[in-house]
Amino acid sequence: MRGNQTQGIHGEWSNALVFVLAAVGSAVGLGNIWKFPYMAGENGGGAFVLVYLLCIAVIGLPILVAEITLGRRARCSPIHAFRNLAAQSGASPGWRYIGWLGVFTGFVILSFYSVVGGWAIAYTLRAGQGLFSGIAADEAGALFGGLLGSPPEMIAWHTLFMAAILVIVARGVHSGLERAVTFLMPALFVLLAMLVGYAMAIGDFDRAVTFLFRPDWSALNAEGVLQALGHAFFTLSLGIGCMLTYGAYLPARASILGTAVVIGITDTVVALFAGLAIFPVVFVAPGVEAGAGPGLLFQTLPYAFGQMPAGHLFGFLFFLLVTFAAVTSGISLVEPATAYLVERRGWGRWRACGLLCLGIWLLGLGTVFSFNRWADFTPLAFVGALADRNVFELLDGLTSGLLLPIGGFGIAIFAGWFAAREVLAEELRTGSWRFVVWRWAVRVVSPVAVALILLHGLGVI
Ligand code: PHE
Repeated sequence: MRGNQTQGIHGEWSNALVFVLAAVGSAVGLGNIWKFPYMAGENGGGAFVLVYLLCIAVIGLPILVAEITLGRRARCSPIHAFRNLAAQSGASPGWRYIGWLGVFTGFVILSFYSVVGGWAIAYTLRAGQGLFSGIAADEAGALFGGLLGSPPEMIAWHTLFMAAILVIVARGVHSGLERAVTFLMPALFVLLAMLVGYAMAIGDFDRAVTFLFRPDWSALNAEGVLQALGHAFFTLSLGIGCMLTYGAYLPARASILGTAVVIGITDTVVALFAGLAIFPVVFVAPGVEAGAGPGLLFQTLPYAFGQMPAGHLFGFLFFLLVTFAAVTSGISLVEPATAYLVERRGWGRWRACGLLCLGIWLLGLGTVFSFNRWADFTPLAFVGALADRNVFELLDGLTSGLLLPIGGFGIAIFAGWFAAREVLAEELRTGSWRFVVWRWAVRVVSPVAVALILLHGLGVI
């Protein structure tokens, strides 16, 4: 294993800011723009937001720090990182399976993420063509239904999304990932600011603020608390080695604790702003409710924009934002596996990433057909709790509900109990009390909390 002063074979980010942009790019995605606002709305607004913030700070951040630290120490893909660090710390080589689990989970998540990312591209173009102007609510529904009902069209957009991921990732850390995030992330921040400004000017901003921030403790139950925990994981891209891999490209002199805090805060602020861009517009459109699920983004919102002055332009900008956010998350999902193949087989990045993207594309067809031909196909019909889930619902539920938390649990336990203390302390280079606080967080607080989410997901509690 290479020492912590040397670059790995994949190269490294030009500076710590690029790393922050890349990591925020991974973290900010459909989870922030679509899932967070609606989950907050359903679970007591401000009450949910407070619990979520607590989860990010107490559970998410320690694991984020652990991933970045392990990655920067090992300077390689998660599978080799766990193998090498375990060897160095005298732990079992079996820890590499945590790396394998992450690589596999990333593969599966990207297969459906790409299909939804494809919808975002389709909607960017539709908004640009003015298809939403003055559209009626049922027409917006029919437009979305038309997309979902057409496998060839969905496959075309899914292919385009995967091709974009391939072109970026295959070009390497420096000319591919770094260039993409240094363009896409500032663009994303500007778009978001413009959309919040528009929502303030045109929408029912006060109602949105109340909806998102007024704590209604009676609407928050144990289920909501556990959802907040699970979402903290998903939104920070934790538990699957994405942040570990990005940490492997972090220059030796950058401070890990500082960057992790910036990443956590930025991801959260973007989620809150996304809510403030969406709900004011949704609330002024006649006769719409802040409904939940994919419908909010792809049906309610096009209709709402269609009723607003300059909605044509801002609808276009909104879906461009969603597309950028999905692309910068997508690249982080395939990078760990690409790095592994390059290390293990000595392949070039085009070959490694090309093969992976092909596999992911094929698996993605399962999600495409879940919205039409296979809508009623339930592969696990014989498993009680999963009996009525189609392919997409299984892949989605299995990854966020089970594989991410297992991976996060493993990473926390490894960093807290098995990785050599001196190695971590050296890599974190921080004042002693901060190191001690972090270490106890990954030793006890994070694993216990994650175990609770898992047991809940499995129906044990
Ligand atoms: N964090 C991304 C989002 O919020 C999703 C993601 C999960 C990306 C895991 C990478 C790894 O949309």
